[in-house]
Amino acid sequence: QTEKEEVRIGFSQAMLNDEWRQSMNNAMEVQASLYSNVTLSISNANYNVQQQIAQLKEFISDTVDIIIVSPIQSKPITPIVEEAMNAGIPVLVVDRKTDNQKYTAYVGADNIEVGRNAAKIIVSNVQDSLRVIEIRGLAGSSPADERSLGFHQILDKFPKIKFAGTIEGDWEKESITESLRELLSRTGPVDYIFAHNDRMAKGAWEIARNLGMEGQIKIIGVDGLNGPNGGIQLVKDGVLNATILYPTGGAEAIKIALKILNAEVVPTNNILSTTVIDQFNADIMQNQFSKINEQQGLIESQISAIKRQEQLYYSQNNILKIIIIF
Ligand code: FRU
Repeated sequence: QTEKEEVRIGFSQAMLNDEWRQSMNNAMEVQASLYSNVTLSISNANYNVQQQIAQLKEFISDTVDIIIVSPIQSKPITPIVEEAMNAGIPVLVVDRKTDNQKYTAYVGADNIEVGRNAAKIIVSNVQDSLRVIEIRGLAGSSPADERSLGFHQILDKFPKIKFAGTIEGDWEKESITESLRELLSRTGPVDYIFAHNDRMAKGAWEIARNLGMEGQIKIIGVDGLNGPNGGIQLVKDGVLNATILYPTGGAEAIKIALKILNAEVVPTNNILSTTVIDQFNADIMQNQFSKINEQQGLIESQISAIKRQEQLYYSQNNILKIIIIF
């Protein structure tokens, strides 16, 4: 339980259109609803950097108790995060980082390790020479830069592994369709495609299928969401060769935010664990996540039952007061 009376958390989410971010928000809301004194307001920056800056400005002028932010890109969001810190408002950065360490804490998986994990899958299958395509996330957002860094750290040591091309994406599959189609038509089927997330990985598979290269290219993605459209199912369906789990950290973000407000010692980097999901463990992972979702659903319904009881109590109490007055 938090020690402060009323706690106001302002969260600026990069955007809301994809399931990964929806699941992050959901986990935050469930976690926040466990504390009756916590108000969480989530703003959707809609992938617009100026809008995200404006939202953060608003949180500063509203003097929220703590700001949580998932920066669309690192550089343009860095000064406003510093401004919040200078105004005495702690800032917890989630998933994507700003350019310097001028924030209270970070929570998210190690994206360099995510890239290395993808590379290790390829390395463990190298016999003769191999050709690889990398599909990057939005330039200037830290997971794209770090996933690429980790991927190259390992693969560049293997002369037998050649890069057939790098595609600049923006995290959504529409951004890669044309350039990947053009590249694959030139190179023919490569051995591996590493896409920085599952949405682009699925897009890559669709293009490979259109070109009749389906089944010849092994595709690796990132995120590993559970659910019918998630990466785990794509691995089970054989669309993806593997996906690297990238947890959203929604629940952890709220827990850490409250620790910061309670003046507990919090590490600057709170690193969530990541792992490879492939055909060997996809079933187990799906079962585990489904159990967690079930429990989360149970908690949600218990919380709304408690809220209904509270409302009933207050309205009965009010009726009682009215009766006493008359
Ligand atoms: C969701 C997303 C994920 C990716 C993450 C990186 O918006 O694109 O697919 O792993 O952002 O920040």
